[in-house]
Order: sequence, then structure tokens, then C-alpha cells
Amino acid sequence: MKVIIIGCGYVGLSTGIVLAYIGHEVTLIDRDEEKIAKLRAGELPIYEHGLQEVLRASAGRISFTDDWDSFDTNADAVVIAVGTPIGEGGGVDLTYVRAAVKEIGARVNGNLPVILLKSTVPPGTGREMRALLQQKLAERGMKSKVTLISNPEFLREGQALFDSFYPDRIVAGIDSHEEEAFLTALYQPVLLQDFIPPHGIPRPGNDRLPALFATDLTSAELIKYAANAFLAVKISFINEFANLAESVGADITAVARGIGLDQRIGPQFLQAGIGWGGSCFGKDMRAILHAGKRHQSELPIVRAALEVNQTQRELVAKKLQAKLNSLAGRTIGLLGLAFKPGTDDLRDAPSLDIIRQLVGGGARVKVYDPAAMERLACEHSTLDVECCPTAESLFEGCDAVVLVTEWEEFLHLPYAELGERMREKLLVDGRNVLDQKMLTDAGFTVCSVGRSDTGGGREWLGAVYK
Ligand code: UDX
Repeated sequence: MKVIIIGCGYVGLSTGIVLAYIGHEVTLIDRDEEKIAKLRAGELPIYEHGLQEVLRASAGRISFTDDWDSFDTNADAVVIAVGTPIGEGGGVDLTYVRAAVKEIGARVNGNLPVILLKSTVPPGTGREMRALLQQKLAERGMKSKVTLISNPEFLREGQALFDSFYPDRIVAGIDSHEEEAFLTALYQPVLLQDFIPPHGIPRPGNDRLPALFATDLTSAELIKYAANAFLAVKISFINEFANLAESVGADITAVARGIGLDQRIGPQFLQAGIGWGGSCFGKDMRAILHAGKRHQSELPIVRAALEVNQTQRELVAKKLQAKLNSLAGRTIGLLGLAFKPGTDDLRDAPSLDIIRQLVGGGARVKVYDPAAMERLACEHSTLDVECCPTAESLFEGCDAVVLVTEWEEFLHLPYAELGERMREKLLVDGRNVLDQKMLTDAGFTVCSVGRSDTGGGREWLGAVYK
């Protein structure tokens, strides 16, 4: 099929590259000339595992343009994957989606492509955009019926290609069996899992095929928000219990495993820590709260999860304050800045709030991240931090080091040796991933989230799971 994708962000690029890899002829359109020039030169504007290799493997079937005039009127599908930021009033700003719909409406001829709405949009938007497109066509004297399908994505940054090649499900908000048949044809190699996996992104060991879940347009739009809100609520829930566990002398990692063994609950997204961040959870929860309000639905659970998450980001400063008496004049090192490992993304990253709180308390802050240093310099140049070239150099002269992002390389640092470079051997493990016993044996005072400083509960865990 011939597919046009509008928007070269995370979603547009990953979707385009995957559709090209499985055999479609894909053109990506973006207004950002610089971005398009880079992409044409084979450079990617985002840091994403495997994207470069799969782009190379799909060369010949994928092209990039900033010129709407090259819009192919013979395309079978047009995917809208533009940004939907939060607008001034707190709701989703649909300017880019509307602009894309108008561009399509001004260019298509009698042979209408199927429109797939992949941007995350409030429930009801698909219907509104379908009507807008229909109106644009009517203005040009065209009576053809618009087909617009809601097709939300569920990809995680750092695993965008894995999630696109091997999704649990493909959600389709449709109106007819013809639309379902169209989507089945578009995603057939993914649904049947009969493509050769790209190098570096092997097929998972299970034999499960992705489900194509077809429902109505508005339910599909709400599924996207409900999925993100549910995951965020799950993390905030375990973080709320982490704080209680700490007060009553329990170990939250044991509690999480203990409840996660119940198949109704499941073990995923129960990692307690300094809270979630990223481009989706916070934005989407605020957006659905706003949309709920417009429909007299307050969504108190979603609101509470957001509040718990904000409080969680204050933990580091509170713990340091308690151990060091005062932050003023102290030197604190942050291991990790990105909102999670595997990405350089700093959008809504807990690290940014933590830096502001520590600097606000009078501390000098040193930072290191394996991927996000450049982005920090570009996007947050006003933050008063000292950037370190390596994790090792970060420890020099610190009164405390905080693990903010659980990059693999931080699990294997020579902590005993690095502790010797610190003024005080205090370590805050904001993600509960470090070996507490090893650190304590090396003379560190260790604070984590939802566990006692000596990590008693973990000893038992080993015994239970043998
Ligand atoms: C999320 C959704 O997972 C994805 O389906 C959706 O399309 C976009 O939003 P992403 O933001 O890339 O994806 O990251 P994710 O892996 O879900 O993690 C989000 C945040 O939660 C990170 O800050 C992570 O550190 C945190 N997290 C995750 C926890 O604190 N504990 C956990 O147990 C899991």
C-alpha cells in the first residue's frame, strides 16, 4: 500500500519505519525543514533503539518531505501522527491535527485515502475531524464519504520498534467491516507475525499473535487515555504504599512481588521509586482530567495519581535534608537525568524537579547521564548544574549521590572505590535497583524508596524465591 504519514515525531517515525519495513511504500511529511533534511541524510532526530538500522533496512520504500505539494493523491492511507500538546486552557491543543485534516481536504481527489488518526486526542475528536474533512471536501464540491479510523499507539520510548513490531494489540476505532478489513490488510505481517524480524529486534519467545481489537471511534480514543492512566495509577499506587512501608518497617519490593504474583494484579509497573515522567503520562492524565470536567466526570483516582507522583518527586530532597541536616553548601551528584533508561528524553523528567529543589535548598548539583547531557544543555541551559563527563567523575567531592535513572551501567559501577572520592558516603537509590548490602558493606549509608536503610526485607525475598 501507499501510505503517507504526517508528523515525524516518535510516533510518526516509528510507525513509518515499521510500515516500510513490512513492505508498504511510505512517505513522511513534516513542516520542520531541518528535521526533513536530517532524515534525508539518514540522520535521526530522536534517540531510539534500532531505528537507524531498521531505517537502513527499509531504504527504497521510505521517503521524507516538507513539501505538501508533493502529496500523493493516489495514497491508500494517510496517518495523522502530529503533536497534541496541552493548550493554554489546560485542554489538548488540536491545532496541528486540524491543520493536517485541512491539508488533506485541500489535496485529495475523488479517490479518497483512508485516514488513520494516531495522535493522542480527546474522545470525540475523531468524529469532529471526520466532519471537518467532509466539510472541506464539500467546499470543493466533492461528495465522497470520508473514512476516518482511530488507531492509537501504545509504544514506549526506547522500545518503540519492539512495541510496533510485536504489539499486544492493535486498537481500531471503526464504523464498518470494510474499515476493519482495511486495517487487517495494512497490518497483516504484524498480525500474522510472518515478517523476518529486523536485526537487533528479535521476536519475543511466546507464540502469541497480536489482537486486532475493533470498536467504535470514541471508545478507541478513550482506550488510549485509560491505558496510560491505568499504568500511571498502578505506579502511584505502589509509591503510596512504599511510603507506608517505610513508616511501618516493611519492604516495598517484597510487597510488590507479593501482590504481583496474583495474576489478577500482575508484576509489571509495580517498581516503586521517585515517580513516573515522560511525554505521555502527565500530559495525557491532565488532558483526560480536563476532558472529564467538560463532561461532568471528575476522575478523582486520576487526579490523586498525579498528586502522589508530584509528592514522590520531593522525596529525594526530604531524604537528603534528613540525613545531611541542611542542603546548603552540600554537593549532590545525580546519576541519570532521562525520565527512564534507554532514552535521552527529559520531558517531565523527575530529575528536573529534583535539581530545582536541591538548588533551591542551596546545594551545588553535579549531573551525569549516558544519553541526555546534550539535551540538558540545549533545552535546560538555565539550570544551575555542573555537567560531569563520566559517572565516575560525578562522585568527586560529593556529600551524597542520588540514583535518579536506572541505566544498566549504574548497576555495575565500582561503588566501593568511588565512595572513597566522596566527602560523605551517602547514596539515595531513587529506583530501588542497587545492591543495598554490597553498598552498606562498602561503608555507604543507603536510602531507598519504601525500604529500611538496611534493606532487611530483601534477605527474606531470596529465601522465598529459591
Ligand atoms: C508510556 C506507556 O507505557 C506507553 O504505552 C504509551 O504509549 C506512552 O507512555 P513511556 O512514557 O515511554 O510509555 O514510558 P514507560 O516505560 O511506560 O514508563 C513511564 C514512566 O514510569 C517512567 O518514568 C518510568 O521510570 C516509570 N515507571 C515505570 C515506574 O516508576 N515504575 C514502574 O514500575 C514502571
